[in-house]
Amino acid sequence: MLRSHTCGELRKAHLGQTVTISGWVQGMRDKGSLLWIDLRDRYGITQITIETENASTELVTIARSLGREFVISVTGKVTERYSKSDKIETGDIEINPAKITVLNSAITPPFTIEDETDGGDDIRMRYRYLDLRRNTVRKNLELRHRIAIETRNYLDKLNFLEVETPVLIKSTPEGARDFVVPSRMNPGEFYALPQSPQTFKQLLMVGGFDRYYQIVKCFRDEDLRADRQPEFTQIDCEMAFVEQEDILNTFEGMVRHLFKSVKGIDIPALTRMTYADAMKFYGNDKPDIRFEMTFIELNYLVKGKDFKVFDDAQLVVGICAKGAAEYTRKQLDELTEFVKRPQVGATGLVYARYNADGTIKSSVDKFYNEDELKKWAIAFNAEPGDLIMILAGEEHKTRKALSELRLEMGTRLGLRDKSKFACHWVIDFPLLEWSGETSRWHAMHHAFTSPKPEDIPLLDSNPGAVRANAYDLVINGVEIGGGSIRIFNKEMQAKMFELLGFTKEDAQSQFGFLMNAFEYGAPPHGGIALGFDRLCSLFGGADGIRDFIAFPKNNSGRDVMIDSPSIIAEEQLKELNIKLSHQK
Ligand code: AMO
Repeated sequence: MLRSHTCGELRKAHLGQTVTISGWVQGMRDKGSLLWIDLRDRYGITQITIETENASTELVTIARSLGREFVISVTGKVTERYSKSDKIETGDIEINPAKITVLNSAITPPFTIEDETDGGDDIRMRYRYLDLRRNTVRKNLELRHRIAIETRNYLDKLNFLEVETPVLIKSTPEGARDFVVPSRMNPGEFYALPQSPQTFKQLLMVGGFDRYYQIVKCFRDEDLRADRQPEFTQIDCEMAFVEQEDILNTFEGMVRHLFKSVKGIDIPALTRMTYADAMKFYGNDKPDIRFEMTFIELNYLVKGKDFKVFDDAQLVVGICAKGAAEYTRKQLDELTEFVKRPQVGATGLVYARYNADGTIKSSVDKFYNEDELKKWAIAFNAEPGDLIMILAGEEHKTRKALSELRLEMGTRLGLRDKSKFACHWVIDFPLLEWSGETSRWHAMHHAFTSPKPEDIPLLDSNPGAVRANAYDLVINGVEIGGGSIRIFNKEMQAKMFELLGFTKEDAQSQFGFLMNAFEYGAPPHGGIALGFDRLCSLFGGADGIRDFIAFPKNNSGRDVMIDSPSIIAEEQLKELNIKLSHQK
């Protein structure tokens, strides 16, 4: 080995020992008679100190020839530092080198490799291998590793078997677009990369592997956001002979185990909220319940007072922000602008300040007198000092906009502390949702999700009212996981495809393999998949998932380091029988 110790390891206990450490030159200071080198590896930083007058000329010459990020190996004695540093764990010691070997030189890196770097996003991604040397990124990947290990520990103890499923498959209807791969041996035909291993894990249940999991790459060609990558990782699980309750309990156990073993936190029992309540009280199917500020509907209270906006609205609904009555006109204007942004979509904001002196002043005083405003305050359970904010309009849009405003207020009031965790289940999702765009029903989770038995009679008469045995795991307002109890009978699966607008032939050609399997003794089964990257970023207290992935893609789905996607040679295209539209 080119080292006896790492750069993070040496302490006072090693004083007097001769050691060899290897790593990258983080920085150097040359004071003439004294020369310092900070040597870094994955484990930490160790200071090398050379008293130039007492060292050999050769050693001093080598030391003075070093540059940032040179790879060197240093052999020398561990001595006590004159001025100790409590900033690094090796801060009590230093090494007086007898020998420095340059293992490799380095050109000047395009950004500083330190916690606070001067490198912008793009340059750091282009030189990701240098970015990976930074503590912050390394710690994120160490956290990722730890969560993976603890996931495996937990599931292994419960007899889950990790099984790999294929990556070259046929399209799975998970809602996003597929990435496809042309097949050379089957001209004109394509594989699809899995959006998830959904059908395979169900087939594993038919195959008798009653507890499966896999930490697995999934691929979705969808619009990217901070918490979405085109290739991402799921902790994908499936169990046979279970009901919804069993899945919820098993994976609540896993979440608790991960919080405890990785973060040392005992989280309280997970609460459950129906989808209907989530939409009614938070306007969102993944509510952030670190704070309350729940929706209060006001139609019964505010209509018929000649205020046209409220009179014409399908829904008038608001929230009460504790202690925000003192918001200035400027802050309220900002919030009005916020709700009017196209992404939020409200037409305006009505507010009422419940002042500390007990008076209430609103932006619609012309239509509502103080007595009426007091009734608003009662409806909101508001106290002096609180700010009431109200939106009005079409029901669905208004709830969505108020949800955005609620989150914005939560952030502004400091109620979304990243070191606090609120985990819960959202259950009883609708089975189907209507798409105006395609004029048909779509599966809200996916096509293999079972309806609640008591709602089956509604499948023909009122499909939109059918609830599914489907659930999401939500932590701090982020959808961390989702799953369902599956259909395991051919007739019900065929019925589901029919509802989703498949012809019998299409259903057979795309999913015949699954429906046929159901005829050979399929056990009742269900499962869940957790977004592994999202879980890591949540544990790491970050907003996006990119810094928890070793080699992520940018927002245009590009890997700027290897410059992919890229065009391929005409020869290759010919071999694959692919003609691009501009080619003859
Ligand atoms: P679903 O589509 O809900 O379910 O995905 C499960 C979880 O995966 C994460 N996720 C993503 N993370 C990063 N980037 C993406 N583009 C992305 N898309 C999804 C989310 C999500 O909750 N087969 C079903 C699971 C099942 O029914 O068992 C499935 O894939 O955290």
